[in-house]
Amino acid sequence: MTDLVLSVENISKTYKYSSLGFRQQNIFALDNISFKLRRGQTLAIVGESGSGKSTLARLLVGCDNPTTGKIFIEEQDVFELSKSDQKKQFKKIRMVFQNPYSSLNPHARIGTTLEEPLKINTNLSSHDRKLAVKHALKRVGLREEHASRFPHMFSGGQQQRIAIARALILNPDVIVADEPLSALDVSVQAQILNLLMDLQEELKISYVFISHDLGVVEHISDQVLVMYRGKLMEYGEVDQIFDHSKHPYTRKLLSSTPSYRHTVNYKFKKIDPEFKKLANLKSGCVFASRCSYAEEKCIDEVPKTRFLKGHRVTCHWPRED
Ligand SMILES: Nc1ncnc2c1ncn2[C@@H]1O[C@H](COP(=O)(O)OP(=O)(O)OP(=O)(O)O)[C@@H](O)[C@H]1O
Ligand code: SF4
Ligand SMILES: [Mg+2]
Repeated sequence: MTDLVLSVENISKTYKYSSLGFRQQNIFALDNISFKLRRGQTLAIVGESGSGKSTLARLLVGCDNPTTGKIFIEEQDVFELSKSDQKKQFKKIRMVFQNPYSSLNPHARIGTTLEEPLKINTNLSSHDRKLAVKHALKRVGLREEHASRFPHMFSGGQQQRIAIARALILNPDVIVADEPLSALDVSVQAQILNLLMDLQEELKISYVFISHDLGVVEHISDQVLVMYRGKLMEYGEVDQIFDHSKHPYTRKLLSSTPSYRHTVNYKFKKIDPEFKKLANLKSGCVFASRCSYAEEKCIDEVPKTRFLKGHRVTCHWPRED
């Protein structure tokens, strides 16, 4: 069994968009993203709204295809496979959504919802499927009698437990969790987080964990990938990103989190409004109009992603201080 469960090489996703009377435009939702995820590890994806996190999540579970690039599941290039084998490979990666209630069928009993993937993807007998459902419910801290209830009869936290049970039922290698805590009461968030961490310990499952909460990200991740407008800004081990971030955007994100312990260390110069205007007109670094370290080169030339002391940074002038 390989240690590398998921790797992504240079994937991009472009949407075509046109509104009445206007020419078709391209939306570059993802541009040249790469990462590797090992068994039992957590990769956090962070970045402000619209940076392409959910687009990436959809590609990882096979709900959508990248425009270019490769996805390897256990070192198998999935797009080299037939459609049916691709589907089998993508079964190893399951998704947990932000809003548990809307991710569950309101008209189906929980037992039916949990049994469905087993019916479609396995040859288990009805008896064995029911046993698997009971086991999955127990594993997420629910009781077997919950199988006969409907989603609205549960609290938000319990609904998210059910969504996690559904993700687990086919024994996946990876769970992609797209802001799994943000729709829950603060008091429940820690319980769900603890559940995810216990499951990782027990099952050696890997997570792609999308979150705006940098406190949580720092607590649970092994690696962090920072995105801005579809591009990789910085990617590396969690300590490198939090203690030695080199990208101005990462530093800005960290500074905008009041509880973050290093906030005080980063100082930002005011950006000249004329420079800002110019940066918006030109197509150099996507972050140039908001970057207080930007120079002429930044608005003229797209920075390349470079490898620096164990992590990757897309910037002409990575910070060393
Ligand atoms: N189906 C689609 N068609 C056209 N554009 C899309 C589509 N899906 C996403 N986009 C665009 O791609 C970009 C990235 O969107 P995405 O939802 O992945 O961001 P996100 O990082 O998940 O944001 P948030 O933090 O708000 O959830 C946005 O500009 C969005 O408008
Ligand atoms: S390339 Fe220039 S504008 Fe972009 S993040 Fe680096 S310093 Fe800032
Ligand atoms: Mg999203």
